Amino acid sequence: MRSITKEFPGVIALADVSLTVERGTVHAICGENGAGKSTLMKVLSGVYPAGDYRGEIVFDGETVEFKDIRDSEAAGIVIIHQELALSPYLSIAENIFLGNEITHRGLIDWDATNKEAAKLLARVGLGDSPDVPVNEIGVGKQQLVEIAKALSKDVKLLILDEPTAALNDDDSEHLLDLIRHLRGQNITCIIISHKLNEIRAIADEVTIIRDGRTIETLDVATGGTSEDRIIRGMVGRELENRYPDRDVEIGDEVLRIEDWNVSHPTDATRTVIHQANLNVRAG
Ligand SMILES: Nc1ncnc2c1ncn2[C@@H]1O[C@H](COP(=O)(O)OP(=O)(O)OP(=O)(O)O)[C@@H](O)[C@H]1O
Ligand SMILES: [Mg+2]
Repeated sequence: MRSITKEFPGVIALADVSLTVERGTVHAICGENGAGKSTLMKVLSGVYPAGDYRGEIVFDGETVEFKDIRDSEAAGIVIIHQELALSPYLSIAENIFLGNEITHRGLIDWDATNKEAAKLLARVGLGDSPDVPVNEIGVGKQQLVEIAKALSKDVKLLILDEPTAALNDDDSEHLLDLIRHLRGQNITCIIISHKLNEIRAIADEVTIIRDGRTIETLDVATGGTSEDRIIRGMVGRELENRYPDRDVEIGDEVLRIEDWNVSHPTDATRTVIHQANLNVRAG
């Protein structure tokens, strides 16, 4: 991506940003909240179409101008957004082929759909049956379904926007292993993450974005890039102490929650929070 500039009314989200990603690598993008990471990836994947930004995108040696997501997907670029976008009531298989249905004489071919879905699920290491509704599996597995969906589109460049933000440690580890495995199959990955330990564990390179500008690209694969070094790029100064001491005056209780129960939004027989208690004090 060369000299990408993207404005929203009153906000310059990206100013002259450049990014170079090599084939078959995992490239992390780092930066504070609002730095422009998601916007850059939306430009790359056609969410913001050509004409909506200035600058140039070169993919696989050719200048590309995507009209929309379908267009970028046809070229092999697939984005998995920060907010997962699966349809909760549809099955895993239906979600994977949503908008890309396998049809036979104008009707959906369910045998082929489930069979192909099962193959894709095996590739991402998910053992669930393709006909399970997506709202019955956890968010870690939903992330794998998103990746299976990307693989069904013959992805060459997979963009993951904070894929592990909502995952527990085990699910995150599985996802990182899967990304390594995809890299082995020459699929290039761009991963946005705030988890610096994760970036150091998986990325070959990291590009740091601050206030809508590219700051630098660091080599992570050789192990010479510390977390503090990445943070210095993100915040633009040396940090003496990542967790500085604070003087806090703790006051009276301002909020108390007692025995709080929450049932599942679509399945009233399931309780998702059991008798939670919480109290918050002023200051
Ligand atoms: N659709 C939009 N309309 C207006 N402003 C936007 C829009 N999307 C993003 N912005 C602004 O552009 C800037 C970059 O936002 P962006 O979402 O790309 O940040 P980010 O680096 O992905 O942050 P985070 O880590 O919180 O996800 C922010 O100032 C944001 O408020
Ligand atoms: Mg974002």
